[in-house]
Amino acid sequence: MNEDVYMLGIETSCDETAAAVVKNGREALSNVVASQMESHRRFGGVVPEIASRHHVEQITLVIEEAMQQAGVSFADLDAVAVTAGPGLVGALLVGVNAAKALAFAHGLPLIGVHHIAGHIYANQLVTEMKFPLLALVVSGGHTELVFMKEHGNFVVIGETRDDAAGEAYDKVARALGLPYPGGPHIDRLAHEGEPVMDLPRAWLEEGSYDFSFSGLKSAVLNALHNAKQRGEEIDPRQMAASFQASVIDVLVTKTAQAAKEYGVRQVLLAGGVAANRGLRAALQEKMKELPDVELVIPPLSLCTDNAAMIAVAGTVLYQQGKRADLALNANPSLPLV
Ligand code: KG4
Ligand code: ZN
Repeated sequence: MNEDVYMLGIETSCDETAAAVVKNGREALSNVVASQMESHRRFGGVVPEIASRHHVEQITLVIEEAMQQAGVSFADLDAVAVTAGPGLVGALLVGVNAAKALAFAHGLPLIGVHHIAGHIYANQLVTEMKFPLLALVVSGGHTELVFMKEHGNFVVIGETRDDAAGEAYDKVARALGLPYPGGPHIDRLAHEGEPVMDLPRAWLEEGSYDFSFSGLKSAVLNALHNAKQRGEEIDPRQMAASFQASVIDVLVTKTAQAAKEYGVRQVLLAGGVAANRGLRAALQEKMKELPDVELVIPPLSLCTDNAAMIAVAGTVLYQQGKRADLALNANPSLPLV
């Protein structure tokens, strides 16, 4: 019998200060998230300096809370995993330094985790990952189709050429006068409207799994601007529904195509935009065309930034014998592969 593995995960790459304890890479004993959303709302986006300051204020409390809720002491832990990138450098540094201090003080191995690997591994808190698999990662900073033939092996088969899906959501929401972050607001309005407006879908070249959302975003902004000039009103519910339909159509179609071409056993949804109700429903519907492929969609709390996902990805690296040392640094543009 293998020994149980207890991993403390720490995540501070953007605007959530998070810590969690995960057992054997499958069970979250705690998952504490202190959100700074309120502080950034009045600026309409994340202000890096404010984010760093909040992380500094919160990190110790959040880690203590995660340890307490999990009912473990540092002596019970096997290692500490932390997001090393990508993200805001000043924000990442707070988590990386906290993890280094704990690893040093308690003589624990230190593991550096890629934020997107974390989002993908959130799915392992739902069910066991079965390879080969395809992950659709849709967040505020990323839109990627990632093929994995085994643990820790990531091949990006498609990515956005301009805006990330979440970024497009947030920008369109802002133009509609909705608060930050706009994704959930558009999602809500979209369900009250109909996709009656004809908005573009960027399919790109035949066979490409890349994405592009800037054309769609510009089309929405132009339509709003032109209507305003003419003194006309555009119903925000119709606009939200039309925008969301366009984003989802492209995401879901390309994901199903890639799942088929790569012959995967599972499709995983990951990242903040995976919380989108329209996307979740549309992907479920589309995947009925591939009945042999299992679709895994994490609960909302595991889609947005959290530290349990970092602890899970960290556990896989730990089991593969991968360790960072105390020279670990934050890398705002850390590559996935
Ligand atoms: O993964 P995440 O929490 O942070 C990053 O790593 O970027 O993703 C945040 C993004 C934001 O752009 C937010 O608007 C979007 O996820 N988001 C949503 C929804 N909930 C969050 N987008 C669409 N629909 C939602 N329900
Ligand atoms: Zn994220």
